[in-house]
Amino acid sequence: MTFTFFFLLLTIVTAAALPNNEIHLLKPHSGSAGHKHSKLNCLSWRLAVETNNLRNWTQVPATCEAYVGHYMLGKQYRQDGDLVAYAAYEYAKGLNLVKDGKDIWIFDVDETTLSNVPYYARDTVSFGAMPYNETSFNAWVEEAKAPAIPSCLKLYKGLVKLGFKIVFLTGTHDTYTEARIKNLKAVGYTTWEKLILK
Ligand SMILES: *[C@@H]1O[C@H](CO)[C@@H](O)[C@H](O)[C@H]1NC(C)=O
Ligand SMILES: *[C@@H]1O[C@H](CO)[C@@H](O)[C@H](O)[C@H]1NC(C)=O
Repeated sequence: MTFTFFFLLLTIVTAAALPNNEIHLLKPHSGSAGHKHSKLNCLSWRLAVETNNLRNWTQVPATCEAYVGHYMLGKQYRQDGDLVAYAAYEYAKGLNLVKDGKDIWIFDVDETTLSNVPYYARDTVSFGAMPYNETSFNAWVEEAKAPAIPSCLKLYKGLVKLGFKIVFLTGTHDTYTEARIKNLKAVGYTTWEKLILK
């Protein structure tokens, strides 16, 4: 099963609409990168997943649930995302576009423009420590309540100003086209050239 939760971790950040710039109002779990009862080092596990060196995983190891939850809800995840968005914007600006309408910027959706952290933070999902459940994930997509990732929304707005046309490309099945349109618009992604679903 592929599961985009981690592959684009580095593009996530804060939620300007919520107090304290949090994506999701949950207390961070306490948790350390290591675990006294396990040889698995959770920071090593996360790095291996993010770099796509570890590819065959299906769920977060139970011993790393607290660590991953803490990372996702804490400021590190937001700061990691801020830096990536900043670098992307600097790159885009450096292209000195002539604004002839021929330049596009392609965004992924899950964990890039939209955050599913509120879904993954639920007890029934527990930051991936439970097996992936397509039914409950799809029900969450249908709700169209995913918050924007603020650094990405800011990047999006900057790119539109620079003259990029925006394309969204997502692995979400096209059964959820209306839900995705509703969700993207509700959180501030108001215009795009194309939305491509599976
Ligand atoms: C997954 O990878 C680990 C090491 O990274 C290996 O020990 C394990 O056998 C692999 N499992 C499958 C199903 O390929
Ligand atoms: C997946 O989620 C659905 C809906 O929340 C639930 O009814 C079902 O029992 C879950 N399946 C598993 C294997 O946990």
